[in-house]
Amino acid sequence: MRLDKLLLPFSAAALCFTPLYGAYGGNGETLFVERCAMCHGTDAKGSGPLAGKSNPPTPDLTTPAFRKRLADYPGVIVSSVILRPNGDLIPRTLKENGYRLPPHAWTVKDFRDLNEHLSGMIHKSK
Ligand code: HEC
Repeated sequence: MRLDKLLLPFSAAALCFTPLYGAYGGNGETLFVERCAMCHGTDAKGSGPLAGKSNPPTPDLTTPAFRKRLADYPGVIVSSVILRPNGDLIPRTLKENGYRLPPHAWTVKDFRDLNEHLSGMIHKSK
C-alpha cells in the first residue's frame, strides 16, 4: 500500500475543514467572546455590559479612525493584550464588576486567531 494513497483522504479532509474552523466559531471567536466581549461587545462597537464602567469607556473599534490605526499598526490588537498599555484598567474593571476570568496561558496561535477574528469583524462591519 502506497503511503500517499493512505494519506490522501486525510489531507483532503484537512483542506476542507481547516479554513472553516479558523473563520467561524473557532478559537479566535471563543477567546474574544470569553475574554473581550463583556466590554467590546460581540460586534466590537463597545456594546458589552461593562463598556461604560471604566474611565475611559470601551472604544468603538469599528470607526474609520480605528480602522486606520489598524492599517497603520497591524499589531495593535495583539499588543493591546500583551503590553496592556492602559495599565490595570481592564483587570480592575472586571474585578469591580464581579467578573472572574480564569487565567489563560496565551499561545502564538491564540494571538493569531484572536487577531484574525477581531480584525475580520472590524473590516466587515459598516
Ligand atoms: C474591562 C473591559 C475590557 C476588556 C475585558 C477588554 N478591553 Fe480592550 N479596551 C478597553 C478599554 C477601556 C479600552 C480603551 C483604553 C484606553 O483608551 O486607554 C480598550 C482598548 C482596546 C483596543 C484599542 C487599543 C489601541 O491602542 O487603540 C484594542 C485593540 C482592544 N482593547 C482589544 C481587546 C481585546 C482583544 C480584548 C480581549 C483579549 C480586550 N480588549 C478586553 C476595555 C476592555
